[in-house]
Amino acid sequence: MTYPKCGTTWSQEIVWNMRNNPDLDNPDADDALFIRSPYLEMDMLSVPEMPVDAAATAVFMKGIEKYVKDLDQLVGTAIYFQVAEAHWKPRTIKTHLPFSMLPKNLLDTCKVKSEKCVVYVSRNPKDNVLSAQHHYKLAKLHNFVGTQDEFVDLFVEDLLLYSPYGQHLREAWSRRHHPNFFMTTFEELKADTRQQLTKLDAFLGTGLTDKQFDNILQTTSFRTMQEKDQMQKLNETSYNMDEGNKEGLFVRQGKAGTWRDKITPEQNAKLDLWIKKNFTDHGIDFKYD
Ligand code: A3P
Repeated sequence: MTYPKCGTTWSQEIVWNMRNNPDLDNPDADDALFIRSPYLEMDMLSVPEMPVDAAATAVFMKGIEKYVKDLDQLVGTAIYFQVAEAHWKPRTIKTHLPFSMLPKNLLDTCKVKSEKCVVYVSRNPKDNVLSAQHHYKLAKLHNFVGTQDEFVDLFVEDLLLYSPYGQHLREAWSRRHHPNFFMTTFEELKADTRQQLTKLDAFLGTGLTDKQFDNILQTTSFRTMQEKDQMQKLNETSYNMDEGNKEGLFVRQGKAGTWRDKITPEQNAKLDLWIKKNFTDHGIDFKYD
């Protein structure tokens, strides 16, 4: 569970591989991430006017036939939800929905080591807003063509898809001591990935060996994920390649602290005010590098 652009895809790959591919020999590993680890509310993001392209769909859906029998019947239906329902267990489900939009008893009914544990990853808002700006420019679904000033305004006015980030993270933060809930941050994952994997291993009950930890670190490293992303890049019907060629594709920089060179003093002041109101006043701090 994440607010968008906090390291969802990275943590999804980590959890999926820890549970299903610690020896890097699972044949399903080549399936699309959307299929290995279904995105709970993805169907809500499909809009009729979005261009449908066979090549892009094939990338998105690689492996779908393992979960859904009659693919021809799927057009216009809740495809991703069906994949999530049909998936064999333990499922690793992605969602950007906040706790208040999920079953109220989600954490209480789950057992540690079962499939219903919740892993939540947050990220400092200053890197988050830049990553989001890139995403909104890259993805034709969003097609953002404005300036960074305008984007920062949309961010602090809570006008982006899935906002408000403040409420999203506060709802998670208030549950941080729950035994079935694991909270971490992009910055902690980045600073010491192995340490976070060790904590996750204890939480998920995956019992990995040192060699298996090495495997997970290798297959979920920025370099490996960026290479895969570049190989499978969604074609021009899904991505604005001007932005992709200039700034990179989905797996773009993968760093903490790049905001320091990119955010203007005025934007920084707006973000600081918003961060104080939404997080600092509620006892939530971030690492900014
Ligand atoms: P940047 O845009 O700052 O590079 P999400 O999956 O929630 O949309 O998050 C996307 C961000 O995670 C992007 O950040 C992307 O580059 C980064 N990311 C993806 N895979 C990563 C990895 N293996 N290591 C570090 N960062 C990664």
